[in-house]
Amino acid sequence: MNAEIPQRNLALDLVRVTEAAALASARWLGRGDKKNGDQAAVDAMRLSFSGLDIQGTIVIGEGEKDKAPMLYNGEEVGTGQGPQVDVAVDPVEGTNLLAYGRPNAISVVGLAPGGSMFTPGQSYYMQKLVVPAAAKGQVDLTASVEENLRSIARCLEKDIDDLMVFVLDKPRHAGLIEEIRRAGARIQLHTDGDVAGALMAVDPTSDVDVLMGTGGTPEGVLSACAIKAMGGEMLCRLDPQKNDEKEALVAQGADFDRIFTGSDLIRADDVFFAATGISGGTFLPGVSYSGAGATTSSLVLRGRTGTVRRIESAHTWNKLMRFSAVDYD
Ligand code: FBP
Repeated sequence: MNAEIPQRNLALDLVRVTEAAALASARWLGRGDKKNGDQAAVDAMRLSFSGLDIQGTIVIGEGEKDKAPMLYNGEEVGTGQGPQVDVAVDPVEGTNLLAYGRPNAISVVGLAPGGSMFTPGQSYYMQKLVVPAAAKGQVDLTASVEENLRSIARCLEKDIDDLMVFVLDKPRHAGLIEEIRRAGARIQLHTDGDVAGALMAVDPTSDVDVLMGTGGTPEGVLSACAIKAMGGEMLCRLDPQKNDEKEALVAQGADFDRIFTGSDLIRADDVFFAATGISGGTFLPGVSYSGAGATTSSLVLRGRTGTVRRIESAHTWNKLMRFSAVDYD
């Protein structure tokens, strides 16, 4: 084995990007305005990227250029110096969670070497199964819910009724919820936020053991960045929810039976990921204000080494506001 001196950990730069977005958007918590809450995060994140030494191309962004003025798919970000990277962003993952003051709204960014990130194209939804490292290789998206839960319970040395399953609370999951209940596992229903759900499923310290169900395809790519670093496994397949999505995928010759792993979504190990809590929750505390400043909590991951860092930062307005272009105060 060739030893090498430590390389730059871009995730330590990325955390400043997610912190900026979280600080800017947390002021909108519970104000019922998801558009402005998201915009505050987008503006702060965009500004933060402009000082980062990367040649970045947004692959997972705020949408197509005509709909998103900033952080749109295809936009170049960074100073243009440094490594060529694909960039996945979600300035506020869980805009409704932010708008209605519910737990687990987070700001997230993932980076991977240029050309290694899956491009969703016309795919908006994927069926996902996310399990911790102990159950890697022991689940199968074509098996029944009960078979998978039995297998996960065995791998985690738990009984099936000890298991906690994260499911998005959507009408499309009525059958899935019924099957999980019949198998005897416990369920956490969340209105939104399946990136946080995927992070919880692979984090051995969280009370969630597995994520099941259909959520956004871009969120799947972001989750894959984190899972490559934290271990665990994500299996997914295209699961269009509307006719126009299905028709566009059929026209592209999409294979609806193909099962993607995290490594199909991110075809490299050298990935970086950062997430900062906005609204708080059991997984990542949210932005907490003191009057004179704020504290943020972030998760910082590097795929190549598998290092998981939790960073708590204290931000002080009287210093920060002397030069910050974003008004956090
Ligand atoms: P936004 O932050 O874009 O609002 O996404 C929240 C989210 O809950 C994701 O976590 C999830 O993957 C997706 O929406 C599910 O989509 P839908 O609400 O349409 O079922």
